[in-house]
Amino acid sequence: MDNDSLQEDSGPRRQWLQLHDKTFVLYLSETEIQARVAELGRLLNASHVGTCPVFLVMLKGALLFASDLMRHFDGPAEVSFVRTQSYCGTESTRQVQLLLEPSSSEVCNRDVILVEDIVDTGHTLHHYLPILKSQQPNSITVVALLSKPDMLEQPNLALDHVGFSIPPKFVVGYGLDYNGLGRNTRSIYTLKEEE
Ligand code: XMP
Ligand code: MG
Repeated sequence: MDNDSLQEDSGPRRQWLQLHDKTFVLYLSETEIQARVAELGRLLNASHVGTCPVFLVMLKGALLFASDLMRHFDGPAEVSFVRTQSYCGTESTRQVQLLLEPSSSEVCNRDVILVEDIVDTGHTLHHYLPILKSQQPNSITVVALLSKPDMLEQPNLALDHVGFSIPPKFVVGYGLDYNGLGRNTRSIYTLKEEE
């Protein structure tokens, strides 16, 4: 990676981001994101009183969201990870690969909170949810930070909580990447209009 492949203006309130060949502009600020994550945490506290859920984090994109969300959960909880891959550049290939999954003992009879960064076409969750169900968890609660309803190709997909419904534009930041870069920002950015 050369030094020019990641450029930002400075500070947590930066307005734009340069990743590889593309420029991204501020879309959701850290303040907006954190306020919504706290609300989602309150909903999970209310729905999971007296349980010890497993936060099942969909890597890599949901890493930052999950780590903030879990800090709003007051009861005991565990964490595990699943990793799928379907995106190439700024487009879904619609071919979902499962690269890492929890062992059955981590999810069997457990209340699983599946934490996803973004639901786009819905193929990833449509592919993975039956695999998770086959491991016989007690319950599954799907929490996605972002959803692009206009892109959804799996209309029967049940999402329990969505942080923000957004237009069908490519976004990066706060865990989301463009070809590996951009995950380590506090805000979310969208492709600049003319690109
Ligand atoms: P599907 O289409 O299967 O997509 O619902 C889910 C996965 O694709 C990635 N994805 C994105 N990544 N910006 C990203 O950085 C985006 O706008 C975007 N849309 C989808 C993401 O990994 C998600 O879990
Ligand atoms: Mg993802």
